[in-house]
Order: sequence, then structure tokens, then C-alpha cells
Amino acid sequence: MRKIIAVYPGTFDPVTNGHLDIIERASLLFGKVIVAVALNVNKEPLFTREERRNMLIHVTKHYKNVEIDDFNGLLVSYAKKKNAHVIIRGLRAVSDFEYEFQMSLTNRKLEPEISTIFLMPNEKYTYLNSSLVRELARLGGDVKCFVPPYVLSQLKMKLSEVAR
Ligand code: COA
Repeated sequence: MRKIIAVYPGTFDPVTNGHLDIIERASLLFGKVIVAVALNVNKEPLFTREERRNMLIHVTKHYKNVEIDDFNGLLVSYAKKKNAHVIIRGLRAVSDFEYEFQMSLTNRKLEPEISTIFLMPNEKYTYLNSSLVRELARLGGDVKCFVPPYVLSQLKMKLSEVAR
């Protein structure tokens, strides 16, 4: 049977336990999962492209079928270049739905052969996002239950650099 390649795009600034939950589910479902760090979104990331990539590489190294990459430009063009027929998105709550619905239909219009598949993370991560993690960490809140230990150490280092 054909190996299905899936792309999981996002800003990953930084990767959280919620993202990891989705990566793990996707790795069980697809032949190959490419986690793709988006470089041209309208956000000003705290972490550089290399830092976001390195954190992802570090926390996914035990998944044999997960690869880390980054991309610029249209997601569907990138997915096509990678021979991926699936885009993975996480759906955390109903509030995610409208934006995701619009994105997935637009992507389908652009590339009808690529389908978006939504995965739901464990309910304990439904309220989580990267901005919340960054803000909590900056204000001295404890984020160790939201991110893997390696990401926690990188966050501490980054915030102490920024504060200098
Ligand atoms: N656990 C925790 N947090 C999660 C999550 C999960 N399972 N799923 C999503 N999130 C959070 C993210 O951390 C992010 O938080 P932030 O806003 O604080 O940074 C937020 O939800 C948004 O999700 P994210 O996965 O980062 O997506 P995004 O909206 O930043 O990126 C792209 C969307 C990159 C997929 C989209 O902009 C894109 O495709 N860009 C390429 C250009 C393109 O093709 N545009 C046309 C699209 S139709």
C-alpha cells in the first residue's frame, strides 16, 4: 500500500504538549509526518526559525516517521512539493472551527487532491496555545505541565536573553 505523507504546519513558537499530542496521533496514522514550521505568518515569533526547528527535532526524535522542516509561501504548494496528500490540523475547541474550516476549504480549492484532516488533542490541552505559554513564562508562571522539559529550558534561556 502507498505510504501516505502528511504535513502538520504551524508556528510552533514554541511547540507545546498539545502539539506533541497531535504529532503522536498523526505518527500512528500516517506513513510519514512532516512537521512544518511556517515562516511567513503574520506573527512576530519569540524563537527564531532554527530554534523552533531544533526544539521540534529534540522533542520528536523518538518518532521514526516524523520529520521536521520549515516553509515559506503557500502551504499547499509546499505540501505538493513534498508529495503529501494530507494536511493535519488540530481542533481544540469549537472556536477553532470557523478559521480552520475557511482555511481547509481554501486549500482544497487551490489543490483539490490535498485533504485536511482534523485531529483532536487530549481534552487536557484544549485551552492551550503558544502565546499563553510565552506569557505565563514571561510573568514567572509555572509552565512545566504545558511544554516538554527541553522546551521549558529553552524558554527560560530565551526569556533571560530577552530581559538582558
Ligand atoms: N496544542 C496547543 N496549541 C495549539 C494546538 C495544539 N494542539 N493547535 C494549535 N495551537 C495553537 C498554536 O500554538 C497557535 O498559538 P499562537 O496563536 O499563540 O501562536 C494557535 O493555536 C494557532 O495555531 P498554529 O498551529 O500555530 O497555526 P497558525 O494559525 O499560526 O498557522 C498556518 C497557520 C501556518 C497553517 C497558516 O497560516 C498557513 O498555512 N500559512 C501558509 C500560507 C498559506 O498557505 N496561506 C493560505 C492558507 S488558506
